[in-house]
Amino acid sequence: MARNSKKIGRNEPCPCGSGRKYKQCCMKKTSDVAESLAEQYFRKHKIRLKSARDIEGIRTCGELVMATFDEVKKILVPGTTTEDINTVVHEFTVKHGATPAPLNYNGFPKSVCTSVNEVVCHGIPGPYVLKDGDIIDVDITSILNGYYADCNQTFFIGTPSSEAERLVDITRECLRRGKEMARPGNHIGDIGWAIQQFAESRGCSVVRELVGHGVGFDFHEPPEVPHFGRRGYGVKIVPGMVFTIEPMINLGKRQVRTLDDHWTVVTKDGSLSAQFEQTFVITENGCESLTPFDL
Ligand code: MF3
Ligand code: CO
Ligand code: CO
Repeated sequence: MARNSKKIGRNEPCPCGSGRKYKQCCMKKTSDVAESLAEQYFRKHKIRLKSARDIEGIRTCGELVMATFDEVKKILVPGTTTEDINTVVHEFTVKHGATPAPLNYNGFPKSVCTSVNEVVCHGIPGPYVLKDGDIIDVDITSILNGYYADCNQTFFIGTPSSEAERLVDITRECLRRGKEMARPGNHIGDIGWAIQQFAESRGCSVVRELVGHGVGFDFHEPPEVPHFGRRGYGVKIVPGMVFTIEPMINLGKRQVRTLDDHWTVVTKDGSLSAQFEQTFVITENGCESLTPFDL
């Protein structure tokens, strides 16, 4: 024990047997490896790994986002307008010292995205009156103390059709299966693979044009997280990564188009589309949602 516990001097022969000085051999290698995962991920992939302190900041922001959903849920009934949802999100967010990230983001005019029925994502709140049988995705992103958390959920207005219920259940299961793949040692492509396998096995399709993304210091950071793809492809997942998974699943074909407002993305075939999103942090042995709801 005494021998092993002795610290190796910088100028002593390297214990690996190379014949070189320790400082010119393994000392350098071990300290490089220990220090540089974050540096390496930034250099190679432009991915900023998050510290424990950063994760705490994103978690606190996520708690505010989830509290905002509790307020929104109270008004998700026939007769409510999507503008009403915007008002609730904007006022609740600002009242708690945070900023709604969508407002003025690349010119987006409102504080939340509200995407009804065949709208895939980026729906702009306005005079539309929700009616019985609609499905609506509400996508909330807040900035609190400089940290971003991003989350969306699809809700039923009144009583859903059986096809709407089926689509929403499949989409939620897609996020659950994607989340299961988000752990150290797996690749980003494994997430999309799991989602695509499941969605297509149920006769639904996966939107390709919009993807999950790194998040936390900014609204959209590297890496991109596609909801389709191949096992073993893409960046290797490591602890400290924070990213969203946010599958958009269509009942019909996967093709989409953007309306003249330059934001609203709809299915080309007019079929229903649903989405669920959470912000995840990769831990030593899996992941943790920083915007949790039941999957
Ligand atoms: N919240 C969306 C996402 O999940 C992005 C919305 S951008 C906006 O990435 F400008 F439309 F708000
Ligand atoms: Co997102
Ligand atoms: Co979002």
